[in-house]
Amino acid sequence: MSKSFVKIDKKIKNFNKKINIDGDKSLSIRWALIASQAIGVSKAKNLLKSEDVQNTLNCLKKLGIKVTQNRKYCLIKGRGLNGFIYKKNLTLNAGNSGTLGRLILSLLIKSPYKIKIVGDSSLSKRDFSRVIEPLKRIGVNFFPPNKSTLPIYIKGSDYLRPIEYQEERGSAQCKTCVMLASLNLPGSTKIIARSSRNHTEKMFQSLNIPIKIKKTLNYDTITLSKPKIIKKLNFNIPGDISSASFFIVLTLLSEKSHLILRNININSTRIGIIKILNMMGAKIKFLNVKTLNGEKCSDIEVKSIKKLKSINCPTNLNSAAIDEFLIIFLVAAKARGVSYFRDLSELNQKESPRLKLAAKILKTMGVKLSYNNDSIKIYGNPNLKLTKKIVVKDFLKDHRVFMMSVISALSFGGEWKIFDPISVKTSFPSFFKKIKEVGGIIK
Ligand code: S3P
Repeated sequence: MSKSFVKIDKKIKNFNKKINIDGDKSLSIRWALIASQAIGVSKAKNLLKSEDVQNTLNCLKKLGIKVTQNRKYCLIKGRGLNGFIYKKNLTLNAGNSGTLGRLILSLLIKSPYKIKIVGDSSLSKRDFSRVIEPLKRIGVNFFPPNKSTLPIYIKGSDYLRPIEYQEERGSAQCKTCVMLASLNLPGSTKIIARSSRNHTEKMFQSLNIPIKIKKTLNYDTITLSKPKIIKKLNFNIPGDISSASFFIVLTLLSEKSHLILRNININSTRIGIIKILNMMGAKIKFLNVKTLNGEKCSDIEVKSIKKLKSINCPTNLNSAAIDEFLIIFLVAAKARGVSYFRDLSELNQKESPRLKLAAKILKTMGVKLSYNNDSIKIYGNPNLKLTKKIVVKDFLKDHRVFMMSVISALSFGGEWKIFDPISVKTSFPSFFKKIKEVGGIIK
């Protein structure tokens, strides 16, 4: 899709399909970063072939790591902890990816030279103080010293110390940043983190990296110490629930449709959307559940639902659904009653200010709502049908805002013009192909 916008003017017809979804982004980026620190050749199947992941591989190549890719798998020849080889004046480009931009810093905490980290215009607006602050406490240097956005320079140190780190946002990126740093720290690193996606913990466990986890209701206490070596990590990457969610909601909101999404990661820290939608009256089921590389996966079955209920969304599900709220809001727009989502200030810290933009798009659609910086109330209308013209533009090319708009157009009708289709390449390159597979018409 090389055009600068797409047009949609037809609701999707009923469908009954089975589809595959592109590989999980969080797992793909983590696998690549950790494999670069392992000794030997690690292999991943079904690695996500998106720009965020490609940027990860490009950064690793610039750091002297050999990466081999073909249609079926990706190989990374790790050179062990701190095995990177590079010259002075290196610049690493994280593109649009907050996960890459933040996590790669932790692999550079011993770098002898200053390394410049840059990102695209969206990433350059996002907060990096959340990872710079704990890394500074560990002993890492940043230039300019008080800057909290990219571009920024990092320079490592030989005098690093372990810290006790309290993570209060429910941010897996912040937690993972300190976890990856601990691979190079003497003594023991302690993290007390609000629950968030736990893929890094699972990878560390499968690699026998010393890690202890104690769980309480909303917090995990994680104690880590430096491993002697990191073994190679072979990984079968399952489908991404965040990408699957667009199709789950499309099915729910369409008439008389049925969809099976094959082999999706259903890690309990990622399925907030399924819990929320089932509380709203959906009957989403997990079929053929299995565990691969410590990650639970299954097929997901979803059917159209006529009667959707509103929800007062429990805030303890926020982190587990953080990338899915845009699409959940569409379900709230069609549910009977008033839905309320709170404590969501983090949504405005994403690739675009998502809470603000979602409210704007919903309002343009004629959905009644009120919102502020961290919450939104949506007055649902079970008879919501659109006939008017809607233009979606100026959303910092945020891939998820684009895909939310497409799903809205196919579900509710109207005449839509949606800019920046190329944004899907960030996380879900086969998005248009999948829309076609279920019968959606996009011009
Ligand atoms: C991610 C964590 C989340 C999520 C992002 C991917 C990860 O960000 O929004 O898309 O892979 O760790 P935060 O940790 O900042 O909430």
